[in-house]
Amino acid sequence: MSSYKIIDHEYDVVVVGAGGAGLRATLGMAEQGLKTACVTKVFPTRSHTVAAQGGIAASLGNMGPDNWKWHMYDTVKGSDWLGDNDTIEYVAREAPRAVYELEHYGVPFSRTEDGKIYQRPFGGHTTEYGEGPPSSRACAAADRTGHAMLHTLYGQSLKHNAEFYIEYFALDLIMSDEGECQGIIAWKLDDGTIHRFNAKMVVLATGGAGRTYFSCTSAHTCTGDGAGMVLRAGLPMQDMEFVQFHPTGIYGVGPLITEGVRGEGGYLTNSEGERFMERYAPTYKDLASRDVVSRCMTQEIRDGRGVGKKGDHINLNLSHLPAEAIHERLPGIAESARIFCGVDVTKEPIPVIPTAHYNMGGIPTNLWGEVLNPTKDDPDAVVPGLMACGEAASASLHGSNRLGTNSLLDLVVLGRATSIRAGKVIDREAELPEPNEAKTEAIMERFDRIRHADGSKNPAEVRLNMQWAMQNNAAVFRTSETLAEGCKELSEIWKEMEDIKVTDRSLIWNSDLMETLELHNLMANAMTIMYGAEARKESRGAHAHEDYPERDDEHWRIHTLAKVDDSGNVTLDYRPVHIQPLTTPEEGGIDVAKIAPKVRVY
Ligand code: FUM
Repeated sequence: MSSYKIIDHEYDVVVVGAGGAGLRATLGMAEQGLKTACVTKVFPTRSHTVAAQGGIAASLGNMGPDNWKWHMYDTVKGSDWLGDNDTIEYVAREAPRAVYELEHYGVPFSRTEDGKIYQRPFGGHTTEYGEGPPSSRACAAADRTGHAMLHTLYGQSLKHNAEFYIEYFALDLIMSDEGECQGIIAWKLDDGTIHRFNAKMVVLATGGAGRTYFSCTSAHTCTGDGAGMVLRAGLPMQDMEFVQFHPTGIYGVGPLITEGVRGEGGYLTNSEGERFMERYAPTYKDLASRDVVSRCMTQEIRDGRGVGKKGDHINLNLSHLPAEAIHERLPGIAESARIFCGVDVTKEPIPVIPTAHYNMGGIPTNLWGEVLNPTKDDPDAVVPGLMACGEAASASLHGSNRLGTNSLLDLVVLGRATSIRAGKVIDREAELPEPNEAKTEAIMERFDRIRHADGSKNPAEVRLNMQWAMQNNAAVFRTSETLAEGCKELSEIWKEMEDIKVTDRSLIWNSDLMETLELHNLMANAMTIMYGAEARKESRGAHAHEDYPERDDEHWRIHTLAKVDDSGNVTLDYRPVHIQPLTTPEEGGIDVAKIAPKVRVY
């Protein structure tokens, strides 16, 4: 028996993660009177949602005509026809309600002259089903929209008496032998105690795994911890091969420069000073969808038209915009450009490069956030007691490519949806089962083994090797050769994990141990990305496979499911895309013919 003393807690719901999705789920649960705990490894307002800049999409029509069907069409097309159309309809329809709700909660949105919520254009958001001018759909709080939302949602959650367990690192899910989730075990980082949260429902809102890559816009905390737990529980991840590269990460360092810059009139140029996007996307130019812009930038660099001494990046110009407009609408990126690359944006361009930004894939769920464990008979089979939302999950709103500003929308609409569903399925009168001692023991044995790992490899070096394997082999463009090499390298690195040395054995503020646990989670994520990408013989959304440059709807309009076992063996399976929207045209829905696959041009 392990010698760890376990401190028990009992809740109706335990939400893991306190970013936008975790907080919206927590708030929704607490509002309904469910006894709710939110367990988070960082202070809520330091979660990565704080870094979201440009806005949250909703067809409010404050700056010109718009409606939810155009938003739905754009999202289906943006997803390159891999998104689930029921989820997409739900989110596009719910968006205006969700934004007004945020306004009423207190989010300080920027305003138009007549006091309405300010909205700016963003890539891939159009009018008239892709035939009209760009839509101004991104509701913005200057360029600090995520920051504003996070603070507001945290305040609202406290108001509704949600209980927060801050700086607790979730180790693993407690799964019964029957496959039901019964809670989690977490390590309290500041005093080393171990806590067992016994619950009727666990919601994973642990964010993405941007740190699988060397260069990313994600915080160091984005280590795919929910995915790690799900994979260790023997459950699959979905569509992980689709990793979004944001066109404008700051060259050399990674921080995000919002697409809102291009929404406000900024543009990209190559070494010849050419606005090259006009050649690739004649209609929407710099406001084409992100995967398209990232590929065009990479192509310009490959063709010898990159800027800088090494010709390895691109310029983002906004010095032609009025200084007051920058000050009012883009103050955050002006500050980032000054701090991270010494650029005064009113005078010079920002050096940028496509940078890993977002995982379209995640823990498979239905649109209500219930985690799926698909079987041959039932591709939508639900795991009792387990939900997921936000970037950790794949509902699948984004398919193979997410439109900018649909992420903040995803967090609040689907975060709320989990709470609606939980309110229906949780039996408030039922007793919690006795704590699962056998599973607790297994979780603590793993923890103890990693804590006392005494091999020869430094975890930071192993992490760097993993990040370069990902960066070199599964970036904006992929080939059969790079992907095969990536699989080989990652499988070797997986073996090195057995030979890791954790130097600090203490339990209090042991960042060496925490980063090693995070590395285990990152490695599991990385394997699903690389192996899923290697198997997908087509190009779709963010997966640009140079040996298979066309989208192949006949064979590959299908979600990937990837599992990784303890020895690092990856198994792949597939499940159908939900092609039917929620409603028919007679019920007020979109005509399916409108959203049928076609060539994707901007
Ligand atoms: O460019 C941005 O402001 C990022 C937005 C997003 O990823 O949705």
